[in-house]
Amino acid sequence: MSTVAELLSEARRLSLEDAPLLLAHVLGKDRGWLFAWPEHRLDDVQLKQYRQLLERRRQGEPLAYLTGEREFWSLALEVSPAVLIPRPETELLVELALNLDLPESIQVLELGTGSGAIAIALATERPDWQITATDTSAAALAIARGNAARHQAPNLDFIQGHWYQALSGDGKYQLILSNPPYVMAGDPHLLEDGLPWEPPEALTAGSDGLADLRIIISEAPAHLLPDADGWLLVEHGYDQGKAVRDLFRKAGFSQVITRQDLGGKDRVTLGCYPPRP
Ligand SMILES: C[S@@+](CC[C@H](N)C(=O)[O-])C[C@H]1O[C@@H](n2cnc3c(N)ncnc32)[C@H](O)[C@@H]1O
Repeated sequence: MSTVAELLSEARRLSLEDAPLLLAHVLGKDRGWLFAWPEHRLDDVQLKQYRQLLERRRQGEPLAYLTGEREFWSLALEVSPAVLIPRPETELLVELALNLDLPESIQVLELGTGSGAIAIALATERPDWQITATDTSAAALAIARGNAARHQAPNLDFIQGHWYQALSGDGKYQLILSNPPYVMAGDPHLLEDGLPWEPPEALTAGSDGLADLRIIISEAPAHLLPDADGWLLVEHGYDQGKAVRDLFRKAGFSQVITRQDLGGKDRVTLGCYPPRP
Protein backbone atom coordinates (compact mmCIF):
# COMPACT_ATOMS: atom_id res chain seq x y z
CA MET A 1 0.00 0.00 0.00
CA SER A 2 1.18 3.55 -0.71
CA THR A 3 0.15 6.91 0.65
CA VAL A 4 -0.98 9.88 -1.41
CA ALA A 5 2.18 11.76 -0.40
CA GLU A 6 4.44 8.90 -1.56
CA LEU A 7 2.67 8.66 -4.91
CA LEU A 8 2.77 12.43 -5.47
CA SER A 9 6.45 12.55 -4.66
CA GLU A 10 7.14 9.63 -7.04
CA ALA A 11 5.15 11.45 -9.76
CA ARG A 12 7.22 14.63 -9.23
CA ARG A 13 10.46 12.64 -9.45
CA LEU A 14 9.34 11.04 -12.73
CA SER A 15 7.80 14.30 -14.10
CA LEU A 16 4.38 12.68 -14.48
CA GLU A 17 2.42 15.94 -14.77
CA ASP A 18 -1.08 14.47 -14.89
CA ALA A 19 -0.52 12.06 -12.01
CA PRO A 20 -2.30 14.20 -9.35
CA LEU A 21 -5.41 14.44 -11.54
CA LEU A 22 -5.42 10.69 -12.16
CA LEU A 23 -4.85 9.97 -8.48
CA ALA A 24 -7.71 12.28 -7.49
CA HIS A 25 -9.89 10.60 -10.14
CA VAL A 26 -9.19 7.11 -8.77
CA LEU A 27 -10.02 8.28 -5.25
CA GLY A 28 -13.17 10.12 -6.40
CA LYS A 29 -11.86 13.39 -4.92
CA ASP A 30 -10.54 16.68 -6.25
CA ARG A 31 -6.89 17.70 -6.38
CA GLY A 32 -7.16 19.86 -3.28
CA TRP A 33 -8.18 16.81 -1.25
CA LEU A 34 -4.86 15.11 -2.08
CA PHE A 35 -2.90 17.89 -0.42
CA ALA A 36 -5.22 17.94 2.60
CA TRP A 37 -4.88 14.15 3.14
CA PRO A 38 -1.26 13.24 2.26
CA GLU A 39 -1.20 10.27 4.67
CA HIS A 40 -4.28 8.61 3.10
CA ARG A 41 -3.43 5.07 1.95
CA LEU A 42 -4.74 3.64 -1.32
CA ASP A 43 -6.02 0.06 -1.21
CA ASP A 44 -4.65 -2.51 -3.66
CA VAL A 45 -7.47 -2.07 -6.17
CA GLN A 46 -7.06 1.73 -6.23
CA LEU A 47 -3.30 1.45 -6.56
CA LYS A 48 -3.60 -0.97 -9.48
CA GLN A 49 -6.17 1.27 -11.22
CA TYR A 50 -3.95 4.34 -10.70
CA ARG A 51 -0.88 2.60 -12.13
CA GLN A 52 -2.88 1.38 -15.15
CA LEU A 53 -4.18 4.89 -15.87
CA LEU A 54 -0.69 6.36 -15.56
CA GLU A 55 0.61 3.82 -18.06
CA ARG A 56 -2.20 4.58 -20.54
CA ARG A 57 -1.41 8.30 -20.19
CA ARG A 58 2.28 7.55 -20.78
CA GLN A 59 1.28 5.79 -24.03
CA GLY A 60 -0.40 9.03 -25.18
CA GLU A 61 -4.08 8.42 -24.39
CA PRO A 62 -5.78 11.80 -23.75
CA LEU A 63 -6.34 12.68 -20.11
CA ALA A 64 -10.03 13.44 -20.77
CA TYR A 65 -10.68 9.86 -21.89
CA LEU A 66 -8.96 8.54 -18.75
CA THR A 67 -10.99 10.68 -16.36
CA GLY A 68 -14.13 10.64 -18.58
CA GLU A 69 -14.56 14.38 -18.29
CA ARG A 70 -13.62 17.68 -19.97
CA GLU A 71 -14.64 21.24 -19.27
CA PHE A 72 -16.09 23.39 -22.07
CA TRP A 73 -17.57 26.87 -21.59
CA SER A 74 -17.19 26.24 -17.82
CA LEU A 75 -19.47 23.20 -18.08
CA ALA A 76 -18.16 19.80 -16.95
CA LEU A 77 -18.98 17.37 -19.78
CA GLU A 78 -18.78 13.59 -19.87
CA VAL A 79 -16.59 12.33 -22.72
CA SER A 80 -15.70 8.88 -24.00
CA PRO A 81 -13.75 7.62 -27.02
CA ALA A 82 -17.10 7.81 -28.91
CA VAL A 83 -16.83 11.61 -28.97
CA LEU A 84 -14.27 14.21 -29.91
CA ILE A 85 -12.83 15.88 -26.82
CA PRO A 86 -14.22 19.45 -26.95
CA ARG A 87 -11.42 21.94 -27.68
CA PRO A 88 -11.00 25.40 -26.13
CA GLU A 89 -10.75 26.90 -29.67
CA THR A 90 -14.34 25.84 -30.29
CA GLU A 91 -15.53 28.26 -27.61
CA LEU A 92 -14.99 30.96 -30.30
CA LEU A 93 -17.90 29.49 -32.27
CA VAL A 94 -20.14 29.80 -29.20
CA GLU A 95 -18.93 33.32 -28.45
CA LEU A 96 -19.54 34.54 -32.02
CA ALA A 97 -23.03 33.01 -32.07
CA LEU A 98 -23.94 34.72 -28.79
CA ASN A 99 -22.68 38.07 -30.10
CA LEU A 100 -24.91 38.02 -33.22
CA ASP A 101 -27.88 40.36 -33.28
CA LEU A 102 -30.59 37.70 -33.05
CA PRO A 103 -34.10 37.65 -31.59
CA GLU A 104 -34.65 36.30 -28.08
CA SER A 105 -36.49 33.22 -29.27
CA ILE A 106 -35.18 31.43 -32.39
CA GLN A 107 -34.72 27.94 -33.86
CA VAL A 108 -31.08 26.82 -33.91
CA LEU A 109 -29.41 23.83 -35.56
CA GLU A 110 -26.06 22.34 -34.58
CA LEU A 111 -24.70 19.71 -37.00
CA GLY A 112 -22.27 17.08 -35.63
CA THR A 113 -22.73 17.69 -31.92
CA GLY A 114 -20.41 15.00 -30.49
CA SER A 115 -20.45 15.44 -26.69
CA GLY A 116 -23.09 18.17 -27.13
CA ALA A 117 -20.59 20.85 -26.08
CA ILE A 118 -21.67 23.66 -28.45
CA ALA A 119 -25.41 22.99 -28.23
CA ILE A 120 -25.38 22.73 -24.42
CA ALA A 121 -23.31 25.92 -24.04
CA LEU A 122 -25.83 27.79 -26.23
CA ALA A 123 -28.83 26.18 -24.53
CA THR A 124 -27.66 27.24 -21.08
CA GLU A 125 -26.82 30.80 -22.24
CA ARG A 126 -30.05 31.27 -24.21
CA PRO A 127 -32.87 29.35 -22.53
CA ASP A 128 -35.40 30.76 -25.03
CA TRP A 129 -33.57 29.41 -28.08
CA GLN A 130 -34.92 26.05 -29.28
CA ILE A 131 -31.92 24.01 -30.35
CA THR A 132 -31.74 20.86 -32.48
CA ALA A 133 -28.43 18.99 -32.45
CA THR A 134 -27.52 16.11 -34.77
CA ASP A 135 -24.87 13.46 -35.17
CA THR A 136 -24.48 10.25 -37.19
CA SER A 137 -23.12 8.44 -34.15
CA ALA A 138 -25.68 6.89 -31.78
CA ALA A 139 -22.94 6.47 -29.16
CA ALA A 140 -22.07 10.18 -29.36
CA LEU A 141 -25.73 11.17 -29.05
CA ALA A 142 -26.09 9.03 -25.91
CA ILE A 143 -23.23 10.98 -24.32
CA ALA A 144 -24.66 14.30 -25.53
CA ARG A 145 -28.12 13.51 -24.12
CA GLY A 146 -26.56 12.63 -20.75
CA ASN A 147 -24.63 15.93 -20.76
CA ALA A 148 -27.77 17.91 -21.64
CA ALA A 149 -29.62 16.26 -18.73
CA ARG A 150 -26.71 16.95 -16.39
CA HIS A 151 -26.83 20.65 -17.26
CA GLN A 152 -30.61 20.84 -17.36
CA ALA A 153 -31.00 22.01 -20.92
CA PRO A 154 -34.62 21.21 -21.77
CA ASN A 155 -34.55 23.49 -24.84
CA LEU A 156 -32.39 20.98 -26.69
CA ASP A 157 -33.36 18.02 -28.95
CA PHE A 158 -31.05 15.45 -30.48
CA ILE A 159 -31.52 13.64 -33.80
CA GLN A 160 -29.39 10.98 -35.49
CA GLY A 161 -28.54 11.25 -39.18
CA HIS A 162 -26.27 12.42 -41.98
CA TRP A 163 -25.99 16.25 -41.93
CA TYR A 164 -29.31 17.86 -43.05
CA GLN A 165 -30.81 14.46 -43.92
CA ALA A 166 -31.31 13.95 -40.18
CA LEU A 167 -34.03 16.61 -40.24
CA SER A 168 -37.63 15.68 -40.83
CA GLY A 169 -40.04 18.11 -42.47
CA ASP A 170 -39.03 21.48 -43.82
CA GLY A 171 -38.44 23.42 -40.58
CA LYS A 172 -36.22 26.48 -40.97
CA TYR A 173 -33.59 27.87 -38.62
CA GLN A 174 -32.20 31.32 -37.96
CA LEU A 175 -28.83 30.04 -36.82
CA ILE A 176 -26.90 26.98 -38.02
CA LEU A 177 -23.54 26.02 -36.50
CA SER A 178 -21.09 23.21 -37.03
CA ASN A 179 -17.65 22.10 -36.02
CA PRO A 180 -17.46 19.31 -38.60
CA PRO A 181 -14.58 16.96 -39.39
CA TYR A 182 -12.08 19.02 -41.41
CA VAL A 183 -8.72 17.24 -41.34
CA MET A 184 -7.36 15.80 -44.62
CA ALA A 185 -7.36 12.00 -44.68
CA GLY A 186 -3.74 10.89 -44.21
CA ASP A 187 -2.64 14.18 -42.58
CA PRO A 188 0.42 13.36 -40.45
CA HIS A 189 -1.06 15.41 -37.55
CA LEU A 190 -3.56 12.55 -37.10
CA LEU A 191 -0.72 10.57 -35.52
CA GLU A 192 -0.02 13.25 -32.86
CA ASP A 193 -1.50 14.83 -29.72
CA GLY A 194 -3.81 12.00 -28.74
CA LEU A 195 -5.68 12.11 -32.10
CA PRO A 196 -5.20 8.33 -32.69
CA TRP A 197 -7.54 7.78 -29.69
CA GLU A 198 -10.30 10.03 -31.04
CA PRO A 199 -13.05 8.79 -33.40
CA PRO A 200 -11.75 9.06 -37.01
CA GLU A 201 -15.26 9.97 -38.25
CA ALA A 202 -15.08 13.07 -36.04
CA LEU A 203 -11.79 14.21 -37.57
CA THR A 204 -11.31 13.50 -41.27
CA ALA A 205 -13.25 14.74 -44.29
CA GLY A 206 -11.93 13.53 -47.63
CA SER A 207 -8.67 14.20 -49.38
CA ASP A 208 -8.75 17.99 -48.83
CA GLY A 209 -10.58 18.06 -45.48
CA LEU A 210 -13.44 20.09 -47.02
CA ALA A 211 -15.86 17.30 -47.98
CA ASP A 212 -18.22 17.85 -45.03
CA LEU A 213 -17.87 21.65 -45.04
CA ARG A 214 -18.96 21.65 -48.73
CA ILE A 215 -22.21 19.86 -47.86
CA ILE A 216 -22.90 21.92 -44.74
CA ILE A 217 -22.30 25.28 -46.48
CA SER A 218 -23.93 24.57 -49.86
CA GLU A 219 -27.10 23.10 -48.33
CA ALA A 220 -27.47 25.67 -45.51
CA PRO A 221 -29.54 28.25 -47.47
CA ALA A 222 -32.35 25.70 -47.93
CA HIS A 223 -32.59 25.39 -44.12
CA LEU A 224 -32.35 29.07 -43.14
CA LEU A 225 -35.44 31.28 -42.81
CA PRO A 226 -36.12 33.01 -46.16
CA ASP A 227 -37.40 36.25 -44.60
CA ALA A 228 -35.04 36.99 -41.67
CA ASP A 229 -31.31 37.47 -41.26
CA GLY A 230 -30.04 33.93 -40.75
CA TRP A 231 -26.47 32.97 -39.93
CA LEU A 232 -24.21 30.01 -40.61
CA LEU A 233 -21.05 29.60 -38.49
CA VAL A 234 -18.51 26.85 -39.10
CA GLU A 235 -15.22 25.93 -37.48
CA HIS A 236 -12.42 24.89 -39.84
CA GLY A 237 -8.67 24.36 -40.08
CA TYR A 238 -6.18 27.23 -39.76
CA ASP A 239 -5.34 26.98 -43.49
CA GLN A 240 -8.91 26.62 -44.80
CA GLY A 241 -10.18 30.19 -44.27
CA LYS A 242 -10.04 31.29 -47.92
CA ALA A 243 -11.50 28.05 -49.27
CA VAL A 244 -14.34 28.21 -46.76
CA ARG A 245 -15.10 31.90 -47.50
CA ASP A 246 -15.25 30.99 -51.22
CA LEU A 247 -17.75 28.22 -50.41
CA PHE A 248 -19.90 30.66 -48.42
CA ARG A 249 -19.94 33.21 -51.28
CA LYS A 250 -20.67 30.51 -53.85
CA ALA A 251 -23.67 29.42 -51.75
CA GLY A 252 -25.00 33.02 -51.78
CA PHE A 253 -24.01 34.26 -48.29
CA SER A 254 -23.13 37.91 -47.59
CA GLN A 255 -21.10 39.50 -44.75
CA VAL A 256 -18.72 36.55 -44.98
CA ILE A 257 -15.87 36.87 -42.52
CA THR A 258 -13.27 34.61 -40.92
CA ARG A 259 -12.38 35.07 -37.25
CA GLN A 260 -9.17 34.01 -35.54
CA ASP A 261 -8.79 32.00 -32.35
CA LEU A 262 -6.69 33.12 -29.35
CA GLY A 263 -3.62 31.72 -31.08
CA GLY A 264 -4.24 34.14 -34.00
CA LYS A 265 -5.21 31.33 -36.38
CA ASP A 266 -8.17 31.35 -38.78
CA ARG A 267 -10.76 29.23 -36.96
CA VAL A 268 -14.40 30.20 -37.63
CA THR A 269 -16.10 31.58 -40.75
CA LEU A 270 -19.60 33.03 -40.69
CA GLY A 271 -22.02 34.53 -43.15
CA CYS A 272 -25.56 35.89 -43.43
CA TYR A 273 -28.41 34.59 -45.60
CA PRO A 274 -30.51 35.71 -47.42
CA PRO A 275 -27.74 38.01 -48.69
CA ARG A 276 -28.02 41.69 -47.74
CA PRO A 277 -27.23 44.28 -50.40
C1 LIG B 1 -15.14 17.62 -35.02
S1 LIG B 1 -16.41 16.68 -34.22
C2 LIG B 1 -17.23 17.99 -33.33
C3 LIG B 1 -17.94 17.54 -32.09
C4 LIG B 1 -18.50 18.69 -31.23
N1 LIG B 1 -19.45 19.50 -31.98
C5 LIG B 1 -17.38 19.57 -30.71
O1 LIG B 1 -17.20 20.67 -31.25
O2 LIG B 1 -16.68 19.16 -29.78
C6 LIG B 1 -17.48 16.35 -35.57
C7 LIG B 1 -18.75 15.56 -35.24
O3 LIG B 1 -19.47 15.37 -36.46
C8 LIG B 1 -20.04 14.08 -36.46
N2 LIG B 1 -20.27 13.68 -37.85
C9 LIG B 1 -19.38 13.17 -38.74
N3 LIG B 1 -19.98 12.93 -39.91
C10 LIG B 1 -21.27 13.32 -39.77
C11 LIG B 1 -22.39 13.35 -40.66
N4 LIG B 1 -22.28 12.90 -41.90
N5 LIG B 1 -23.56 13.82 -40.19
C12 LIG B 1 -23.67 14.28 -38.90
N6 LIG B 1 -22.63 14.29 -38.02
C13 LIG B 1 -21.46 13.81 -38.46
C14 LIG B 1 -19.01 13.22 -35.75
O4 LIG B 1 -19.60 12.03 -35.25
C15 LIG B 1 -18.53 14.17 -34.66
O5 LIG B 1 -19.28 14.02 -33.48
